[in-house]
Amino acid sequence: MVILEGKGITKVFGGLKAVSEVDFVLNQGEILGLIGPNGAGKTTIINMISGTYAPTEGRVVFKGMDITGKKPYQIGRMGISRTYQIVKPFPGMTVKENVSVGAMFGARGKELSAREAIEKAEAVLEFVGLQEMAEYRADDLNVASRKRLEMAKALAMGPEVILFDEVMAGLNFSEIDKAVDLIQKIRNEGISILVIEHVMRAIKKVCDRIFVLHHGAKIADGTPEEVLNDETVIKAYLGRRYKELVQ
Ligand SMILES: Nc1ncnc2c1ncn2[C@@H]1O[C@H](COP(=O)(O)OP(=O)(O)O)[C@@H](O)[C@H]1O
Ligand SMILES: [Mg+2]
Repeated sequence: MVILEGKGITKVFGGLKAVSEVDFVLNQGEILGLIGPNGAGKTTIINMISGTYAPTEGRVVFKGMDITGKKPYQIGRMGISRTYQIVKPFPGMTVKENVSVGAMFGARGKELSAREAIEKAEAVLEFVGLQEMAEYRADDLNVASRKRLEMAKALAMGPEVILFDEVMAGLNFSEIDKAVDLIQKIRNEGISILVIEHVMRAIKKVCDRIFVLHHGAKIADGTPEEVLNDETVIKAYLGRRYKELVQ
């Protein structure tokens, strides 16, 4: 069953077509990868799904409802949450307070009392393994923990779909493995996931399917095996040495 769909989505900034007539489908319970070079339009796709930008053309459909052009808070309440490539914690607040804010803006946020939002935050921090840092100030965390906090904030919204924008950037190998485990654990909760990532080892391990953007256009989609061996993809993005790198 399809949970989220992009139909011919296009975004023009001034004279630049950042995303050009892209179709994609995210199935219920699936982990879908989105890869491509810097500037390919990946973050712009997430921005169009989450309501940061309205598409110039095309439609975004969530559970059969047309959500094109809705505001970010409306889309958050409907059950789609995201992380930011440049993490944006509320710096003066603790980790737990940051995640509590996520809970209040989420799908059931309106019904939650402050106490319930804090309880939700505590449960999510436990789930992502940040419980020991709950009282730290967000800006005192290292990169790996900041990325994890970003994921926790998105999770606290109680979403059905999460959009992850490079949550592994800047992490070392063992931190990447932990992030992969966490993404799988989130999917096991029944959440459907779109994941933008440059770390091919992780993409290969975690994704059911992948699609590839290049200069705003979709140039390939399929299983990791198919896509990572596709000549066009290797030429446009991965480079000849990539096969050695992922093995
Ligand atoms: N708000 C914006 N205004 C103008 N140009 C933008 C804006 N956001 C993104 N772009 C441009 O759109 C293209 C795609 O950007 P982006 O989606 O961030 O790529 P990626 O995430 O794949 O690296 C880039 O050329 C970028 O400079
Ligand atoms: Mg990006």
